[in-house]
Amino acid sequence: MKALEVRNVTYKYPIARTNVLENISFSVNKGEFVAIVGKNGCGKTTLCNILRGFIPSFHQGKFAGTVLINEKNIKQMSMGEIAVAIGFVFQNPFIQVSGIKHSVFNEVAYGLENLGIDREEMIGRTEQILKDLKMNDLRDKHPVELSGGQRQRVALASVLVMDPDILIIDEPTSQLDPQSTEKVFEIIRLLKERNKTIILVEHKIDLISEYADRVILIDDKRIVFDDLTQKVLVNKKVLSYGVNLPQVAKLGIKFEEQTDFRLDYIPSVLTDAINVFKKYV
Ligand SMILES: Nc1ncnc2c1ncn2[C@@H]1O[C@H](COP(=O)(O)OP(=O)(O)OP(=O)(O)O)[C@@H](O)[C@H]1O
Ligand SMILES: [Mg+2]
Repeated sequence: MKALEVRNVTYKYPIARTNVLENISFSVNKGEFVAIVGKNGCGKTTLCNILRGFIPSFHQGKFAGTVLINEKNIKQMSMGEIAVAIGFVFQNPFIQVSGIKHSVFNEVAYGLENLGIDREEMIGRTEQILKDLKMNDLRDKHPVELSGGQRQRVALASVLVMDPDILIIDEPTSQLDPQSTEKVFEIIRLLKERNKTIILVEHKIDLISEYADRVILIDDKRIVFDDLTQKVLVNKKVLSYGVNLPQVAKLGIKFEEQTDFRLDYIPSVLTDAINVFKKYV
């Protein structure tokens, strides 16, 4: 079953002279983990806002095309219905805190409170998510006292606690140190194991290559790559779109360029790199 489908979407912001995205089409199966990459300003956040119906509802502009969520046309869904189907983590964690709750615990529970969920269950689910994300030390802090990285984790927790089937996560690790970044990817891996559909916007290509099933690369208004991660992230052309390749892929490409050896294939992840280089030792 398709969790998301985008058909021939074209969009222009109200004050812009040209389209930001043009004739974009792709679909995401239930349980798939898709990474969206592309250089700054290529339209990744715009695409996320289209997927959750924020464009064209709130941002005006010129929109054409069709978006389906769980095979239902988004036009026929209310914002409330979309919000239950899709959990959305913003690129900027400073926007996502509600500003009305006085502790991290209440902030994380806020979405459940809005859904009118039973108090016991609300507390239980909030406790569990804080435990899963190893954030218990933050539970009594005031949300405005948090660092950027802490806010980013609170923003993620407030979305995960709602347990949506589809997650759209826009650069969840931009403020995080390497250890917290790995933790977020581990959490995303767990979500995938629980058959959640995940759309992740990220620049950290080494982590994408280890975790994502599929990569969509956007450049100059359109999709230039949409294929399995191990096929996209070994292609030298990716570099020409301002997107990096994993270190191991770059090593494989350089190795072939500078020696007479031919690898069985260009690796995109560490375990593959070990396998292909093994025969030369
Ligand atoms: N509200 C807006 N009104 C007009 N133009 C906008 C608006 N928001 C974004 N844009 C423009 O649309 C283009 C795509 O922006 P978007 O934020 O989607 O890029 P992005 O790929 O998410 O970039 P980044 O990697 O920096 O987050 C940019 O040229 C940007 O200037
Ligand atoms: Mg963005």
